[in-house]
Amino acid sequence: MKRKILCALTLTLAFMLSGIALAQKAGVAKPSVPKGWSFSFPDGNPDTGKQLFIKMECYACHTIKLPKESLAARPGKVGPELTGYAVLPKEYLASSIIKAHTVVAAPGYTVEKGKAAMGNYNHFLTVQELIDLVAFLKHDATTPAK
Ligand code: HEC
Repeated sequence: MKRKILCALTLTLAFMLSGIALAQKAGVAKPSVPKGWSFSFPDGNPDTGKQLFIKMECYACHTIKLPKESLAARPGKVGPELTGYAVLPKEYLASSIIKAHTVVAAPGYTVEKGKAAMGNYNHFLTVQELIDLVAFLKHDATTPAK
């Protein structure tokens, strides 16, 4: 009788241990990027983006021409003109706002490192604000923002 109990206990213990081992194995399994996945930026609200562009004074350094108005940079503007940037992918635009700039898409514009470079907005710009700013830059400058 005692033997039976001992045997049952050993079996239970063995099951429990193998269970733990299995669970650990599952935890170690490396995740992998699903096939066909790529980073894509969500659509935002271009109107909110325009308000942000004004509120954050992006126009102080970047001229952007809209159908009915022109948000103009100061004389001796320091950043590239952003009119026509709608042709660029959202992902490029987002990246150029959140990463330190090394490349610029505007023809003829040369990046002057350290001098007059764009500030870092990452510590206060929310993700939603980034999405809306990109939506504003993405809207075709020849059609009104909607
Ligand atoms: C103090 C001036 C300044 C302000 C303010 C500024 N920028 Fe810039 N921006 C630059 C400069 C200069 C560059 C060129 C890259 C560099 O030198 O950092 C640039 C580059 C860019 C680019 C990339 C252009 C390209 O061709 O890749 C985008 C997009 C942009 N800025 C958007 C914005 C937005 C949106 C804001 C407001 C949140 C803003 N900038 C505020 C100066 C400024």
